[in-house]
Amino acid sequence: MSSTVISDIAQLVTNDPSLGDESPLGLVRDAAVVIEGDRVVWTGESSKAPPTDNRVDAGGRAVVPGFVDSHSHLVFAGDRTEEFNARMSGRPYSAGGIRTTVAATRAASDAELEANLTRHLAEALRQGTTTFETKSGYGLTTADEARALRLAARHTDEVTFLGAHIVAPEYAGDPAAYVDLVTGEMLDACAPHARWIDVFCEEGAFDGDQARAILTAGRAKGLHPRVHANQLTYGPGVRLAVELDAASADHCTHLGDADVDALASGRTVATLLPGAEFSTRAEWPDARRLLDAGVTVALSTDCNPGSSFTSSVPFCVALAVRDMGMTPDEAVWSATAGGAAALRRTDIGRLAPGAYADLTLLDAPSHVHLAYRPGVPLVAGVWRRGVREV
Ligand code: NIG
Ligand code: FE
Repeated sequence: MSSTVISDIAQLVTNDPSLGDESPLGLVRDAAVVIEGDRVVWTGESSKAPPTDNRVDAGGRAVVPGFVDSHSHLVFAGDRTEEFNARMSGRPYSAGGIRTTVAATRAASDAELEANLTRHLAEALRQGTTTFETKSGYGLTTADEARALRLAARHTDEVTFLGAHIVAPEYAGDPAAYVDLVTGEMLDACAPHARWIDVFCEEGAFDGDQARAILTAGRAKGLHPRVHANQLTYGPGVRLAVELDAASADHCTHLGDADVDALASGRTVATLLPGAEFSTRAEWPDARRLLDAGVTVALSTDCNPGSSFTSSVPFCVALAVRDMGMTPDEAVWSATAGGAAALRRTDIGRLAPGAYADLTLLDAPSHVHLAYRPGVPLVAGVWRRGVREV
């Protein structure tokens, strides 16, 4: 197996405190990373790097772990430009807009859906994302949900069944019957293609009791819970997520003290999605409050055609630093190691021996530039599983 050293890295974020300056980012200056096959085998000061077959010169720039985007909705067709335009003229966001994408997604062919998915994945990769999670949720029939998951599973291991995104239009008058479908026939068809189960626990979507029924049914079929929680209103989603030991409670925009206490007491990661607040002109989630309470925070894009049509993790990092009380160090950690924690993974989101060789080279001397230079395309190189992709 051939080995490659990436050397002359001005600042390397390892996310392993024992490898670097003992900060959570485990920063190493004048650093090198050695890759063998798909893994990192060595990290440290450039001058001490072991001999390798190949060498890449980082030219005094920064390297961070590839971004882990632990929350996206990329199996869809159509777009919602008009809805966005109306929102920016003052109309509020509501869960109901999802129906527009459901109609377009059902009408699309498999090839169209997969082409759209791969286009957005390529877009994300160019911006430094090396792992992404994605969901169903724009099909809402057994066949359409299973199809979305099958397509997603061709491109990632992190696939989430979100049949409970909204009540399918055909069941508008009988939500209980839709919950029966999601927990019965639809779950049976979808479970083989997914790792996770998610519910949009929100006014206009599913209440706490329905969410609990759906998540526990999913768990009985081997899927692990994650929850869209407390996005548009205060509600039971976050506490339910912690109670069920969900890997992540996502959005966390409207939190009471009991919600923060619950997150601090459990293993559930709070995944913040500032693209959604940006694109719906909503109030920002308070990352500072969560961090000060000791909650593990992840940052992700929520890329979807309705509430957050961005695939850019760097954009989300910049928003989190500017408007959510995070330091640049915290935001970069949350977009890498935090995302990995939200997927209960230790083989990604860090650059230590044994981890996957997923790296992003920045056209900047420091990871801080991700927030300092918002909107600038700073990604100069991306390795995924040891292979240079960008
Ligand atoms: O995460 N919150 C629910 N689902 C998406 C929005 C989907 C849509 O509007 O199409 C979200 O923001
Ligand atoms: Fe979402």
